[in-house]
Amino acid sequence: MNYQVLINRENEYEKQDFQNAKYATYTNSLGEDIILEKRTLQAFINLQSEFITDIKLDINSGYRTIEDQEKIYNEDKIYAAKPGFSEHHSGLCFDLFLIDNGVVVDDNETLKSDKYKEFFKKVEKKASKYGLILRYPLGREVITTYPYEPWHYRYVTISTAKIIYDKKITLEEYHRLFRRSGILLLNKKKGMTSRDVVNIVSKRFDTKKVGHNGTLDPLATGLLVVTINNATKINEFLTAYEKEYEAKVLIGTRTDTGDVTGKVLEKEEVTLSKEQIVKMINEFPKEYLQEVPIYSAVKINGKKLYQYARNGEAVELPKRQVEIKSLELLATTPTTFSFRTTVSKGCYIRSMIEDMGKILGVPLTMSALKRTKQGDFSLKDAYNLAEVNENVKLISITDALQVKTEELDKNLAKKIKSGNKIRIDENMVLFLEDGKELALYLKMGEYAKPLKMFSTK
Ligand code: DAL
Ligand code: ZN
Repeated sequence: MNYQVLINRENEYEKQDFQNAKYATYTNSLGEDIILEKRTLQAFINLQSEFITDIKLDINSGYRTIEDQEKIYNEDKIYAAKPGFSEHHSGLCFDLFLIDNGVVVDDNETLKSDKYKEFFKKVEKKASKYGLILRYPLGREVITTYPYEPWHYRYVTISTAKIIYDKKITLEEYHRLFRRSGILLLNKKKGMTSRDVVNIVSKRFDTKKVGHNGTLDPLATGLLVVTINNATKINEFLTAYEKEYEAKVLIGTRTDTGDVTGKVLEKEEVTLSKEQIVKMINEFPKEYLQEVPIYSAVKINGKKLYQYARNGEAVELPKRQVEIKSLELLATTPTTFSFRTTVSKGCYIRSMIEDMGKILGVPLTMSALKRTKQGDFSLKDAYNLAEVNENVKLISITDALQVKTEELDKNLAKKIKSGNKIRIDENMVLFLEDGKELALYLKMGEYAKPLKMFSTK
């Protein structure tokens, strides 16, 4: 394992989840003051309120200083982590004791005995609802490296606790499975928005850091390149890749959105011969200034274009230089045709189809769109959303970027982690430590500076 799960307050990984941690004090039934991170304390109070009959719950340990931990470590090396390596330093965990029909039960051996086995099972189940996990379960000692501690609970947020409880895994296993970074290739179904897809991936991977790279409208299907955790930092590179699409066109109709989901603006009883379409395909420009469709999320003066459209406000549509790298007719009927095309970033196929209509002198609209490639990523390698779980294959940032990589020793890694400028030979270098991405450096004049810094936890 290349991270410390037992953490202290300075730990970067914890900072990511508990950046704004606030602490609160609780006075237990023995009159001791226990300090805990606020949400952790609230979770304990909620848990405590579930047990109000024969056996009650209380806590005798929360936040610990390095010195407190030192004392405990010296007294009880089996159960205690080394000072500096206990998650008690974070205030995110506590040690429970029981009040069994008025009698305080707080010694480890009694708490671990069969007498309380069933009771602690109930505690574990209830705790998971409040974001708490049993940190050192029975039978998982090899993974946690600590013996069973039925008393030690840890706050990990509600969604994470639910996953850990339902999957019967430890925090270490959760980290390995869920805290991955990389690129996930998905096959989007018709009807879903790209945002819907991101939200589902976000739930399955239990992270808010999920992005997509090039929107597919609900009508469109096919390859959606989704980034998870650290990989969201390279979105701008992935979005810039050229894209391949297969599109279907309806002849004789033009709509406000440029596709069949829109309001019909023009309708003509018209047919086209295959020759007419072939001629248009051959004449279609390889490069031109394309008008951005009004029904798009492109922003003008801070407002999205489709908002202008919905409010009926006038706006001048921006134009973008687009490149049509390949264009191939796939099939024709008198009232439809389909084509395959590879286009540069920012090219709208809906607009391209309307532009084809201008060449032909007939109204056209898009009836289907499938993205089949983005850069080297191919729809053939994409998962269906239903197949997505924490075990799916993710493409690494290194593989996706296709830049020169350099593995660093500890010293240089330290320099890079603090974002120092350095000299490099290439234009761009991706620095790694133990195979993990640290930072992407870009040469600017004599020195290279970090373009992207990746979280290493
Ligand atoms: N008892 C746990 C391992 C700690 O000391 O953090
Ligand atoms: Zn503990």
